[in-house]
Amino acid sequence: MKRKRKKTFNEYKFNIIEPLSATGSRCIRIYAELPKEKMNNIYSNDMDQKAVEYININIEKNNVDNNVFKVFNLDAAQLMYHNQKFFDVIDLDPYGTAIPFIDSCINCSKNGALLYYYLKLIKFIWIWYINIILIFLESL
Ligand SMILES: C[S@@+](CC[C@H](N)C(=O)[O-])C[C@H]1O[C@@H](n2cnc3c(N)ncnc32)[C@H](O)[C@@H]1O
Repeated sequence: MKRKRKKTFNEYKFNIIEPLSATGSRCIRIYAELPKEKMNNIYSNDMDQKAVEYININIEKNNVDNNVFKVFNLDAAQLMYHNQKFFDVIDLDPYGTAIPFIDSCINCSKNGALLYYYLKLIKFIWIWYINIILIFLESL
């Protein structure tokens, strides 16, 4: 049986998803800054209908190619579970913790994919401040 030849980096095209897009600004920026020949699909998704309206306005304003850039109005986990081992890059930016999405993110990742997500550090900063205040009060 003939083995399938692996694509070289120059031939390779990326599948990218921002499952919690809000206005789509980040994936539109990815679209604008990545060389077009390196992009296969960019998925922009948000559960909120109003957010999807804004994504559509923004892609129109930025002359985005609809063959590459696809917009969805689904639950993020549902969309990712339906695209097993498909994405090379996952940009996750939840309100609060990312934990509810981690399993679906891993499920939709190709081997060696890049998953990055935003930690809401502000909460930790508040906890840190409260600790300092408590330590100060205890020392009085
Ligand atoms: C922090 S905002 C994303 C901000 C965006 N990445 C940006 O940089 O502008 C989180 C978004 O996730 C959406 N969201 C929350 N839970 C979701 C879910 N289960 N599925 C899809 N979208 C969801 C919200 O409607 C909201 O627009």
